[in-house]
Amino acid sequence: MALTDAVGHSRGGLGADQAPASVARLEDLVIQFRRGPRTVHALRGVSFSIARGEIVGLVGESGSGKTVLGLALLGLLPAKPAPFVRGQVIVGGSDMLAASAADRRRIRRTQLGAVFQDPMTSLNPTMRIGRQVEEVARSRREAIRLLEAVGLPDAGARLRSFPHELSGGMRQRVMIAMAVATSPALIVADEPTTALDVTVQAQVLDLLKSLRDEFGCSLLLITHDLGVASEIADRVVVLYGGRVAEIGATSQMLTRPQHPYTAALLQTRLEAPADRSRPLRTLTGEPPDASAPPPGCPFAPRRCRIWRGLDRGRRPASEPMPWTRPP
Ligand SMILES: Nc1ncnc2c1ncn2[C@@H]1O[C@H](COP(=O)(O)OP(=O)(O)OP(=O)(O)O)[C@@H](O)[C@H]1O
Ligand SMILES: [Mg+2]
Repeated sequence: MALTDAVGHSRGGLGADQAPASVARLEDLVIQFRRGPRTVHALRGVSFSIARGEIVGLVGESGSGKTVLGLALLGLLPAKPAPFVRGQVIVGGSDMLAASAADRRRIRRTQLGAVFQDPMTSLNPTMRIGRQVEEVARSRREAIRLLEAVGLPDAGARLRSFPHELSGGMRQRVMIAMAVATSPALIVADEPTTALDVTVQAQVLDLLKSLRDEFGCSLLLITHDLGVASEIADRVVVLYGGRVAEIGATSQMLTRPQHPYTAALLQTRLEAPADRSRPLRTLTGEPPDASAPPPGCPFAPRRCRIWRGLDRGRRPASEPMPWTRPP
């Protein structure tokens, strides 16, 4: 049994093989890129599952491997040069890593939806919104229904707009409408609210949360902000240096984080100004360099500084993960 599963089980979280009807499951996923003479260790053995109708928040600092994980789920890892991959990425019973390119496309089309940080990179700037949504929704009526469902004001008239004529929040709603058009089992949303201002951020989060009830889909919400994840996620997965530092129910993460790194993320969040537009105080120390990860535990070189920065009452009672201890 993978380490993360063991921890998930012992804390009452859903482990990989325990989840009822999981829509997606990662098994010991390893992904490495070649960069010149170096190997970039993006993911270093990640296992967890996403249950039907579940919202999972994937949290971690820049470079921790969040986007690579999302792309692996979507079957969108770069083809040339292709990274080294090991493990399994099971979506709807098929392994995305072993599937042919045609099968990956089919699985993506029928079972997955994607929402990225900047909708301008995914929307065609030269094509009216209506045509783009109709292409996936298959009819004008359905396109309008979807745009109304995601709260785009004046949806019928908006069909004639070009992407640049919409605000960032509206564009993100259009992307979400396109992501749910095929009734996917799982939506992967990578920093979907990061580029938006604070009030719109809250509205888009509400919308993402409502997709489960409206469309019955699960959601992997990728964000660097534990606060954003905890607002809508049922469970949170904390990535550190390409590994799962902690995985558990959101309520447990917010009250009793087990890993000092999660405790530090939570502390910065709680100390943060109510005004979300101001940046969070960054954590002390540096995350590991993915092209030269430290031997043994990736957290070990930073552990003491993070620990000292934690208020006494916030220090976890114990560290259950063996790799959090210095080798
Ligand atoms: N195509 C690629 N080629 C080489 N290295 C890559 C590639 N894609 C990602 N990486 C590396 O993999 C590691 C993980 O990157 P990833 O983009 O998943 O981080 P992230 O957690 O999404 O960070 P951020 O919060 O900045 O978006 C980083 O070291 C990154 O430089
Ligand atoms: Mg990213």
